[in-house]
Amino acid sequence: MAEFKEAPAGASAGVRLMTWVDNRFPASKMYREHMSEYYAPKNFNWWYIFGSLAMLVLVIQIVTGIFLVMHYKPDAAQAFASVEYIMRDVPWGWLIRYMHSTGASAFFVVVYLHMFRGLLYGSYRKPRELVWIFGCGIFLCLMAEAFMGYLLPWGQMSYWGAQVIVNLFAAVPFVGPDLALLIRGDYVVSDATLNRFFSFHVIAVPLVLLGLVVAHIIALHEVGSNNPDGVEIKAKKDAQGRPLDGIPFHPYYTVHDIYGVGLFLMVFTAIVFFAPELGGYFLEFNNFIPADPLKTPAHIAPVWYFTPFYSMLRATTDVMVNVLAGVVALGAVLAVLKGSFAGKGKLAVLVGAVVAIALLKTFDAKFWGVVVMGGAVIILFFLPWLDHSPVKSIRYRPSWHKYLYAVFVVFFLVLGYLGIKPPSDIGTLVSQVGTLFYFGFFLLMPWWSKLGTPKPVPDRVTFHPH
Ligand code: HEM
Repeated sequence: MAEFKEAPAGASAGVRLMTWVDNRFPASKMYREHMSEYYAPKNFNWWYIFGSLAMLVLVIQIVTGIFLVMHYKPDAAQAFASVEYIMRDVPWGWLIRYMHSTGASAFFVVVYLHMFRGLLYGSYRKPRELVWIFGCGIFLCLMAEAFMGYLLPWGQMSYWGAQVIVNLFAAVPFVGPDLALLIRGDYVVSDATLNRFFSFHVIAVPLVLLGLVVAHIIALHEVGSNNPDGVEIKAKKDAQGRPLDGIPFHPYYTVHDIYGVGLFLMVFTAIVFFAPELGGYFLEFNNFIPADPLKTPAHIAPVWYFTPFYSMLRATTDVMVNVLAGVVALGAVLAVLKGSFAGKGKLAVLVGAVVAIALLKTFDAKFWGVVVMGGAVIILFFLPWLDHSPVKSIRYRPSWHKYLYAVFVVFFLVLGYLGIKPPSDIGTLVSQVGTLFYFGFFLLMPWWSKLGTPKPVPDRVTFHPH
């Protein structure tokens, strides 16, 4: 146990109180470590506000969620009406509900931008691998949270969206149908499904999410923040051991982030007050019709933040599976011809390719669609080990890397757009090209990230006072 400290004689009541607390709980120590003496690089740009904004949205979701639960009824016979009751009769209920529904979309906007920043500046690279991995865990939790939350209003889209997605699990070989039954708790989406999704949405997933966010920040503060130059500021310190290019998080970045919060809230409140449905993208029109298990809507589409991955699922047709088998065969032949494998290695590559192709042809395209959709998220966890570029930040990479990233973003947006639209032949073809590009981008990264000559990386961060 640490020694008890005494407050100086004549100290104010506040100082005496803090001394009392600090002798029992490391409040001041934590404040220093995470705020006033957490040295963040001085060259942060606006990409660096999204972490704080994600925390703000998390708080908005939890607080509005608590108030929604006070009036919502997790019962298939009452859920839809209870949401209408919140909207019409509960004082300020409409505001709470719209803040929560807009908050869900805002969360994904903020988190996608936050992740993209990580990609641009190589923030997932050593020593921040765990920061990234906790982040990917957060992203998975967010997806689960949003999916289960969407069932709760018990509208047509809630019901049929859940039906489609839970049925996907039935495509898993051998255990699929039992797995889908376990998730639904019934043979179709029903009251049992609503109850378990409610339980997961309000307590189980938020608990994991909060734990992961704490782990994310602790890991980040252990190694220190990256910055737009990708230069480690801890490499150059002053006599007191403070990074030369670091500035205390508080007050510099608290003020910086409050400015970002102000701008964010202007957009957020504009949507909440003037366009909470945002043209059917944030709240789908079909979801204002109560769930009807006997009437399937003509077009079932997930909410926008899932659609890039949903497009990949739909792109995985029988033809696509054949193309994938062809890609595996070609990759194996190239590896054997060009790779520096010994005899046994070559044999292993060929056997591996034959097994992969046999598996691709054994199970049906629906199952592989599920694998592709899940794989598109899981592959993100491996990013720290896929990127072999000698430099971290896009600023110092060969210029063509920027174009590659731009094409990646365009394909991701196009996949998202196509996932909202009803399927079409041309749409499927474009999604297939987009899916191949998405996976090619990551799987071939160990190769392409090493190509080209990087620009010289400065010793210290570049900083222009404004
Ligand atoms: C609830 C969601 C999240 C919250 C509240 C959150 C919070 C934060 C905060 C406060 C920071 C420090 C400020 C900043 O650099 O912007 C940060 C940094 C970071 N986050 Fe997140 N984050 C979330 C989700 C994610 C996700 C989904 C990923 C990636 C898959 C991720 C990856 C990172 C990385 C790599 C950094 C370090 C960035 C750097 O130093 O350049 N985060 N996060």
